[in-house]
Amino acid sequence: MAQLWGGRFTKETDDVVYKFNASISFDKRFYAQDIKGSIAHVMMLSRKGILNETEKEKIIAGLTGILEDLTQGRLKITDKYEDIHSFVESVLIERIGDAGKKLHTGRSRNDQVALDMKLYIRDEILVLDNLIEELLYAILGIMEEHLDTFMPGFTHLQKAQPITLAHHMGAYFEMFKRDHERINDIHKRMDTCPLGSGALAGTTYPLDRKYTAKLLGFDGPSLNSIDGVSDRDYLIEFLSALSIIMMHLSRFSEEVIMWNSNEYQFVEIDDSYSTGSSIMPQKKNPDIAELVRGKTGRVYGALNALLVTMKGLPLAYNKDMQEDKEWTFDSIDSVKACISLFAGMLRTMRFHSDRMKDSAKQGFTNATDVADYLVNRGVPFRDAHGMVGQLVLKCIEKKVPLDDLPIEEYQKICPVFKEDIYNAISLRTCVSRRTTVGAPGMEAMEEVIQIYRKYMEAYETELELT
Ligand code: ARG
Repeated sequence: MAQLWGGRFTKETDDVVYKFNASISFDKRFYAQDIKGSIAHVMMLSRKGILNETEKEKIIAGLTGILEDLTQGRLKITDKYEDIHSFVESVLIERIGDAGKKLHTGRSRNDQVALDMKLYIRDEILVLDNLIEELLYAILGIMEEHLDTFMPGFTHLQKAQPITLAHHMGAYFEMFKRDHERINDIHKRMDTCPLGSGALAGTTYPLDRKYTAKLLGFDGPSLNSIDGVSDRDYLIEFLSALSIIMMHLSRFSEEVIMWNSNEYQFVEIDDSYSTGSSIMPQKKNPDIAELVRGKTGRVYGALNALLVTMKGLPLAYNKDMQEDKEWTFDSIDSVKACISLFAGMLRTMRFHSDRMKDSAKQGFTNATDVADYLVNRGVPFRDAHGMVGQLVLKCIEKKVPLDDLPIEEYQKICPVFKEDIYNAISLRTCVSRRTTVGAPGMEAMEEVIQIYRKYMEAYETELELT
């Protein structure tokens, strides 16, 4: 046991209590952010004359050494310490002596942990950002290749109207584009630096909070020290953004699983992204998509857990808040793995265009277009709807698609029908006539793809600038 606060105690902490209370097993993850925060703190203390130049240099050299040793694996973080803050401070004192004891001047672990977690999330947002970009590129690639790969669009999981694969994929592009924006949005709102909030009431030292905020790349210091140490809103926002990403991935996974089934055969997941069965030799299972769908529950769980933990917590810091970490870390790991595996699965997946096209033909997906044909020739829509209903019944009886129903049958129901009906209801015509913005028509889709391309380019420029 090595703790920072033994002075007012007459007894050692019980072993079980110590373990229950400790967070080092998980907060060691942000050792780099903890050290970075301490270096900024020390620079500010010396600038304000609270530490002298020699002390500053000694401490910074000591901290830099610890960071290097940890990164290179020369120094190991052990459970002997209560948390990462105690570990770093203790090793520093061991290495540089008395100067190290001044590191914690004007600081509390409450503002320290609030800072560390923010710095960590900020770094992870960047990683997630890049992963979402990878996924968006994978989707865009499919869109560009499948502008006229016809397939049925569904409502109620019933074939509804013909669309294209590009159009269907475009819906996912939109979802992940919003996710990308949402993640960046959180960054804007969490851009205040809690360091200097102290335990809750600031400190009596003349700290320059604006300076530390600037050194650490924040927009400015948090404006209320109580909120500075007890705000976990940004984590809740972050976990909701992660939950929404998982919801999107899960819907997509569900479709991939269906499309990969024997019944659909719209796609084939590559062998490298499938798994076999220990008993049934013929099986090739979509385990990755299923696991992505499954892990969604885990991330939703984390969001819910943090919401419940924060509910009813009085101001300011309470130890309950230590619980924010494991869920958040677990969610970050899950989401990163899911996005990157999903993107890989998409890039290697084969699309069976013929099967999709046949499926669109078989499901009367062009029935609306037969009605439109009549409407364009003066038949009121409601009458046309009824007539096409009768035609569909006839097709079911004859076991043929609308495209193969003889012209006599059409004319028996309405004499307005002419030979050009077949061209008017071909999949190509049905899709290409849908030319409004956002519709599946090839021209409309091409325009949207251009917009997406520009979006990705702007995004890359923005990354280069930051
Ligand atoms: N491990 C603690 C946490 O994650 C650090 C803050 C400790 N502060 C305290 N007053 N015990 O929340």
